[in-house]
Amino acid sequence: MYYPVAISDDIFWIGVNDFETDLFEAIWPLPQGITYNSYLIRDQKTAVIDSVKSQFFSPYLDKIHQALTSGKTIDYLIINHMEPDHSGSVKTLLALYPNLQVVGNKKTAEFLYSFFDISNRIKIIEHGETLDLGKHKLQFSLTPMVHWPETMMTYDSFDMVLFSGDVFGGFGAFRGPIFDDEVDLVFYENEILRYFSNIIGKYSFMVRRAIDKISSLKINIVAPTHGPVFRRNPEFIIRKYNEWSKYESQMGATIVYGSMYNNTDRMAQVIARTCTEYGIPVSLKNLVQEHYSYAITDCWRYKVLFIGTPTYNTRLFPPVHQFIYSMDEKFLRSRVIALFGSYSWSGGGVRSLTELSRSGKWNLIEPIVEVKSAPRDSDFKNCVKLVRNALQSAGIT
Ligand code: FEO
Repeated sequence: MYYPVAISDDIFWIGVNDFETDLFEAIWPLPQGITYNSYLIRDQKTAVIDSVKSQFFSPYLDKIHQALTSGKTIDYLIINHMEPDHSGSVKTLLALYPNLQVVGNKKTAEFLYSFFDISNRIKIIEHGETLDLGKHKLQFSLTPMVHWPETMMTYDSFDMVLFSGDVFGGFGAFRGPIFDDEVDLVFYENEILRYFSNIIGKYSFMVRRAIDKISSLKINIVAPTHGPVFRRNPEFIIRKYNEWSKYESQMGATIVYGSMYNNTDRMAQVIARTCTEYGIPVSLKNLVQEHYSYAITDCWRYKVLFIGTPTYNTRLFPPVHQFIYSMDEKFLRSRVIALFGSYSWSGGGVRSLTELSRSGKWNLIEPIVEVKSAPRDSDFKNCVKLVRNALQSAGIT
């Protein structure tokens, strides 16, 4: 969209769509794009909340011009988050609007200096402090480490809008609709969970603290920095983030694996079919064919996780290693985990997975199924047994 969208009588979405970036943070696929949401509040004083990635400055500035009341300028730029997908336009805005004052916290000020050499023109606020725009009074909540140290939220008490930064955000660009009552929520819920599990989930404890901090606010609209604006049902997205950050899961299984010569793949397929016969949803993720971003999403969704690997140079198969490395740093809790895999001239793949459990991180379901070269009938039977034991442990059977 090349024009602002009204959120209320005085508040406008002035964000941009990014269909150009292939990988968010140079890691996570964006096949359906992403938005960088920014908002402008018209009042006696004008405030902009967060900005956009630098290469989208031109369409962004057009929207600022369209949203500004004639004869007015921007008085405040409130920075809820300094990651460059939101702060990329700060320096240019400060150059274009010489009276513009940045509003942030002490950590925001540190990043303003380290990224842009900006050490003045910042009003430093504390948790609970307010900023008076006229009719609109903005209240700031410091919500650190979701997922950077300076992250905070801004609440407009007049329209009861929570500008929440990355929290409650997700992947997926806009194709016309921007509100929860306009978009395809099934698509966005999936892309929001993928964003949460890939980017924010590591900091689940801090997400729960952030949600606690805003729990007393009456919220009519949730306006995050990525993805849909929730005006019909703001409780929906708060509830979802709350559940995900508590590691709550659905009954179902994710089977994440790699395979070189189809032997681990054949075991994965037997496990998938057995789960299906037990009547639970199954997500089969071959890491050779699909980015691990999607596997992590379903690990967050489902209670049971099967991980399969061949042995490569006496160790984990590299695509599985990349997945394990990423999962390990996400600290996902409360999942039932079962292992399987194969080797030919040396063990090592499954052993590497098992050693991770010995470090105290995972409780593994027996039997751990590792086959030499190619699975036989007895190995497939062990896969069936592994499924039965895992589902029993998860309380599914
Ligand atoms: Fe959307 Fe953490 O940047």
